[in-house]
Amino acid sequence: MEIIKKDFGKKANLFILKNDKGTELAVSDQGARVVSLKVLVDGKQRETILGFDSADEYLAKDPFIGSSVGRFAGRIKNGKFSIDGEEYQVSIDPETGHNLHGGYGFDKYIWQAAEKKEADRVSVVFTLESKDGDEGFPGNLSVAVTYSLTNDNEWIIHYSATTDQATIYNPTNHVYFNLTGDPSQSIDEHTLQMNADRYVEVDGDVIPTGNLVAVQGTAFDFTHEKKMSELFAGVASEASGIDGLDHPFLLTTDTPQATLISPDKKVTIEMTTDDPSVVVFTANFGDGGPVMRGHKLADHGGITMETQVPPGVTDYPEWGSVVIRPDEAFEKETVFKVVVED
Ligand code: GAL
Repeated sequence: MEIIKKDFGKKANLFILKNDKGTELAVSDQGARVVSLKVLVDGKQRETILGFDSADEYLAKDPFIGSSVGRFAGRIKNGKFSIDGEEYQVSIDPETGHNLHGGYGFDKYIWQAAEKKEADRVSVVFTLESKDGDEGFPGNLSVAVTYSLTNDNEWIIHYSATTDQATIYNPTNHVYFNLTGDPSQSIDEHTLQMNADRYVEVDGDVIPTGNLVAVQGTAFDFTHEKKMSELFAGVASEASGIDGLDHPFLLTTDTPQATLISPDKKVTIEMTTDDPSVVVFTANFGDGGPVMRGHKLADHGGITMETQVPPGVTDYPEWGSVVIRPDEAFEKETVFKVVVED
């Protein structure tokens, strides 16, 4: 196993983590993001995620793709929340009136990076200091995101954080998978299975309505393997009017909690997380997708698995807790295991 460091432009670096199976995970300190995850399929390298070729392109075209999202992944309605009865107003997007992905968030920064080699894995540890008042969030928050690659083809994301004041923190990684390796192909022929018995209903602004809906009997039932084309065909029956998924699913603890299979069945992603939910966004960009690696991104050209506490928790505290305090350690982990058919 080894790590190769390259220039990624804009003073950013690209770290290519390689294992003994020919798998390569490329990550950048710009946004503490994942840029590429290539596996050997029939002796040839196949890309499994969306990404761009330089830091510049991310900033110009779509800084969320593959990034570390913070301080809060998803939307905070009207940018308002409270902790211990004290109300906070964080920055809002003037177009929507809500905070999305922390506002001017972690995806825009160059993080500190440290390489690490252990017997069973190679890793890069990214760290960032977010100052008290950053985008309106309280507390000096020190965060770390560690990406590791193992010889079992696991991409492990480990999160930790400390704060000097009670604050909220709900990070995720905004990876989009497309297991064909071709961003101009939609994910229609991918198969998804999720151990999720409920989803969070959202309105047309993608704001949770407060309803947790049983998936049974709906287009959102992935408890058994289902083609994404079937979802897209049935999605009109759901309330939000969103042309695809942009919804949090509440996970059970049966692992792996999600399984995504390529159209040719040769590549499978198995997701295991200690987070209670995953936001699945099917890149519903219509014709507005960017050009990526020489191809225009198709509508539904990727699928995210954003593990996190469900957005909406700031209004519906019974959904979980995102509050962290000075005397508490914040730790969590998500693993994406790539299984390649021999
Ligand atoms: C997702 C979010 C989508 C969209 C996307 C960024 O996490 O749920 O609505 O904003 O990020 O393009």
